[in-house]
Amino acid sequence: MSTPTKGPADSGKVNLYDNAYGNYAAEVYRQVRLETYGEDFGQTSWVTTAESSEIPELLKVRPDSHVLELGFGSGGYALHLAKTVGCCLIGLDINVSGVHNANRLAAEMEMSDRARFEQRDISANLSFRDNSFDAAFSNDVLCHVPGRLKVLREMHRVLNAGGRILFSDALVIGGMVSHEEIATRTSIGYYVFSPPGENERLIHEAGFRLIGAVDTTENAATIARRWHGAREKRRAALVDLEGEDNFESLQRFLSCVHTLTAERRLLRYLYVAERSS
Ligand SMILES: C[S@@+](CC[C@H](N)C(=O)[O-])C[C@H]1O[C@@H](n2cnc3c(N)ncnc32)[C@H](O)[C@@H]1O
Repeated sequence: MSTPTKGPADSGKVNLYDNAYGNYAAEVYRQVRLETYGEDFGQTSWVTTAESSEIPELLKVRPDSHVLELGFGSGGYALHLAKTVGCCLIGLDINVSGVHNANRLAAEMEMSDRARFEQRDISANLSFRDNSFDAAFSNDVLCHVPGRLKVLREMHRVLNAGGRILFSDALVIGGMVSHEEIATRTSIGYYVFSPPGENERLIHEAGFRLIGAVDTTENAATIARRWHGAREKRRAALVDLEGEDNFESLQRFLSCVHTLTAERRLLRYLYVAERSS
């Protein structure tokens, strides 16, 4: 990748999510998603299509399941899941453009009776009764949320016994990272970095039994490289939509993610756990 990782002076707050969800239907954004992921679920994460396809089985989702997604983004993957499996799904995300987009997509797909999307900050208590869901998942979201143990405890509370959770964390520390790299890597919002083993410890403390922790760092590096490249090819159209500064800052962010994951200085893990009682 040619774009260098620059320092904090160059890495002002970058708008990723408003642009991605507000411009969801723009053809250039659709092309970038297709070229990055191979299949377009409206992703703004490091989840490969292969990883997405494993989620229903890892969560043991069935047609009669009630599923919770924390940080659904555009809503595209949630709707794909609800449509292919036939389950009911509620999604929570803090981003207003994402909520509008997801509910619009649900209406267009005539799935509003089975998939509902609400604007919520998931660092607060979840507004659901105990034992409301059979499965809960969160792709590349918990790194944005303070109080991970509380979030995991809330996931535990709202799940039925035997219910599964799945979440990923792309900010597990793997090596030396400079303050400039941290500034660029965190330029799109609030972030929490995790020491290795901490998610496993918190999963246990929240009352879950860990089923698996899979290192998916290489996939994150691949997605970051493809995302950066797909945007670079469409520079003019994206600058028109995002503005020059935001375009450049987002490219620096993606380049930084690629460097840090390719060199395994930041690691991404996918966790699956079960509520046993
Ligand atoms: C990396 S994106 C992932 C989106 C989606 N899961 C995907 O795979 O494409 C992170 C998402 O977390 C959401 N988010 C960040 N902080 C949040 C919070 N405190 N409560 C709810 N959602 C949050 C953002 O709005 C964004 O949509």
